[in-house]
Amino acid sequence: MSMEIERPKTSETATEAAKSRPEASHDTSHDAIRAAVRAQYGAIARGASLGCCAPSDASSTSGCCAPSAAMSLALGYDADELAALPEGANLGLGCGNPQAIAALREGEVVLDLGAGGGIDCFLAAKQVGARGRVIGVDMTPDMVSKARENARRVGVENVDFRLGEIEHLPVADASVDVILSNCVVNLSPDKKAVFEEAFRVLAPGGRLAISDVVKLKALPEALENDLLALTGCVAGAASVETLRALLRVAGFEDVRVTVNETSRAFIRQWLPGSGVEDFVASATIEAQKPGATRERATTSRETSSSTTAAAARACCGPSCCATEPKA
Ligand SMILES: C[S@@+](CC[C@H](N)C(=O)[O-])C[C@H]1O[C@@H](n2cnc3c(N)ncnc32)[C@H](O)[C@@H]1O
Repeated sequence: MSMEIERPKTSETATEAAKSRPEASHDTSHDAIRAAVRAQYGAIARGASLGCCAPSDASSTSGCCAPSAAMSLALGYDADELAALPEGANLGLGCGNPQAIAALREGEVVLDLGAGGGIDCFLAAKQVGARGRVIGVDMTPDMVSKARENARRVGVENVDFRLGEIEHLPVADASVDVILSNCVVNLSPDKKAVFEEAFRVLAPGGRLAISDVVKLKALPEALENDLLALTGCVAGAASVETLRALLRVAGFEDVRVTVNETSRAFIRQWLPGSGVEDFVASATIEAQKPGATRERATTSRETSSSTTAAAARACCGPSCCATEPKA
């Protein structure tokens, strides 16, 4: 049985987007959505749930599995990098590899929106080195605790996990060089606030490098109103046009939203038989805050073409629907 939710209307144009606040970020329906998302990812962090490829019909109980190495490689991650991660950092919840488009440099300050178990933070920490710093923000207390414990176990010192909402970032103005995010913005009920906050905390010349799920066309009502499809990174996705408009309204330039046309293969597995792959896809979202980049970084990281090509084949969310129903 589907769980109905009261969803704030999503604006489809810049004008509508501009009208949708300021009260929106304090909308109680937004808090209800965040509470549902928090409950889902809290359960995942505690190991009480394996993932979020949600069945639209709970009676089908199609299950998710633990992240497989093959799936993470398909998302564009490097095998050696994955092997060096603290155990539990990779929960298989991404839909791409934002670092493949971020071109991180030594000394940069990186912010990861919705850091989960910390996978992208730990990888970024290596790229920016001891002179750089990584901040991971997540609103789910159990997820933040898990990420901090992961950091403690491997002794990473340049990563700081903070509890907070990406619509109200616990980060100072103009203090960040690069914002990463992997399969999180779709979960936000107030994407306008997310991009405004991203703009606020980025230094002039700072950039966004995001992997996320985008809406290709209107979802059927059953999926649109399904709480599990929302927490499973499907029902909250915005269209490419809406994302571009929101980013421009927030002040970003060089906005690029690129749909990964080959993502159908894995998105189909999130809700088998629902046809979800016709309605959403994974995409990369890139943009820049106007201004000259500060002279913080020194060494460029080479982004290998193989990594980029693999990311282009890649995937999101739970990334892991089992084909067999769960008992
Ligand atoms: C699909 S998981 C992705 C986790 C991580 N980025 C990864 O790739 O493994 C989404 C994460 O974003 C967090 N999240 C969702 N909405 C959020 C919001 N509005 N503010 C802060 N964190 C949020 C959840 O708690 C969860 O840990």
